[in-house]
Amino acid sequence: MKIVMIGAGYVGLVSGACFAEFGCDVTCVDTNKKKIKDLKNGRIPIYEPGLEELVKRNVSKGTLKFESNLSEAMSLSEIIFIAVGTPARRGDGHADLKYVYEVAKEIGQNLDGYKLIVNKSTVPVGTAREVKRIINKVNRNAYFDVASNPEFLREGSAIDDFMNPDRIIIGVDSDSAEEKLKKLYSKLVDNGAPILCTNLESSELIKYASNAFLATKISFINEISHLSEITGGDITEISKGMGLDQRIGDKFLDAGPGYGGSCFPKDTLALIRICQESGSSSRIVEAVVEVNAAQKARMVKKIRQSLDGSENNKKIAIFGLTFKPGTDDMRDAPSLSILPPLIDKGAIINAHDPQGLKEASDLLPQEINFYTNIYESISGADAIVLMTEWEDYRDLDYEKILNIMKGNTIIDLRNFYNPKKMQKIGFKYHSVGR
Ligand code: UDX
Ligand code: UDX
Repeated sequence: MKIVMIGAGYVGLVSGACFAEFGCDVTCVDTNKKKIKDLKNGRIPIYEPGLEELVKRNVSKGTLKFESNLSEAMSLSEIIFIAVGTPARRGDGHADLKYVYEVAKEIGQNLDGYKLIVNKSTVPVGTAREVKRIINKVNRNAYFDVASNPEFLREGSAIDDFMNPDRIIIGVDSDSAEEKLKKLYSKLVDNGAPILCTNLESSELIKYASNAFLATKISFINEISHLSEITGGDITEISKGMGLDQRIGDKFLDAGPGYGGSCFPKDTLALIRICQESGSSSRIVEAVVEVNAAQKARMVKKIRQSLDGSENNKKIAIFGLTFKPGTDDMRDAPSLSILPPLIDKGAIINAHDPQGLKEASDLLPQEINFYTNIYESISGADAIVLMTEWEDYRDLDYEKILNIMKGNTIIDLRNFYNPKKMQKIGFKYHSVGR
């Protein structure tokens, strides 16, 4: 099948390359001309494990191409995916659909013959019908269907998530759309992936409800982590005990500095807006958002308390800046909320991250000293804060670390290390919820 993927970002580039891998003829289109030029020259603009090899293999097979001109790419395709950004709109947190609508208009202006247009971007309920209205408005003779096919990719494991999905969700309002999408995904379905075909609105809501529910699990365990600390519990044991209940499940129950990323923060805010505009309540998701912000603020206090009440003139080495390991993505990373208040109170910050330094240096205060070498970042530090659980921080030379640090405090915001082991080495060890 011939596919156009509009938007060559974390979602579009991964999805396009994966569709090419299972035999489709894919053209990724993006308005960012530098991004397209880089991709044509074999430079991958984002870090995602396995993506570079997957893209290069399919480019050399001729099944994956890159264009910045949509009309040329469209004429040869059967299915057009919209995977452009849907960021939180400044101020009100609603999903900003201006890019989706601009693309819908451009598709309408270039339609020649039947096409299936599919929203892969995370979009509020009703967007597929709005896209249909926009296309009909700009092209009275348009012959097309619109469908919804949300993605559930996690950054850092996006290719595996695409190739081995828990489920494929398609929202359609015509048999031809259902038939085309089932044919497109037939290889994954034959491999055992469940496929749920539903109406447009349900498909759009499944995406928001899934992300909001996952964020709810995280805020729940983060709130319990505070109670656990006060009462002498161990949140990692509590998570384990809860997770043994099949109805709860053991995933997304790890306490930490709060969730970040390009999805949970924006999708929870967007869902609250959707509820408010439709007149339904959003009390739970509102609380999830509040608890997440409170958890980040609590981490600042935790770090301050671990430094005997003041971070002023204290040198703090930060392990990890990205919102999770396995990505260079800094969107809504907890480090963006936790580090500035420490700097405001006089802390000296040395920061290391295996992949995120370039993205981070544009977003964090310039006072921060960025390091590519972990041991150099620790030199003379009063404390270490483990912010992101990259495996690079697992087996370090801790005796050496203690010798080059000034202090011996380690604040583990991801419960990444073994407390007894760290205390035995000689660290004053602090963590979350235990
Ligand atoms: C984002 C959100 O993270 C995801 O939840 C949503 O489902 C889709 O949008 P992501 O791939 O992370 O996905 O966005 P981003 O990395 O910003 O990529 C979007 C791409 O679309 C960018 O490369 C941008 O240049 C491109 N784009 C944007 C267009 O090609 N045309 C436009 O009009 C606007
Ligand atoms: C998420 C969804 O998982 C994915 O299905 C959707 O398509 C996009 O949004 P992503 O944001 O890439 O994926 O990462 P995810 O692994 O979900 O982590 C999100 C945030 O939650 C990260 O900041 C992570 O550190 C945090 N998290 C996750 C926790 O704090 N505790 C957990 O137990 C799990």
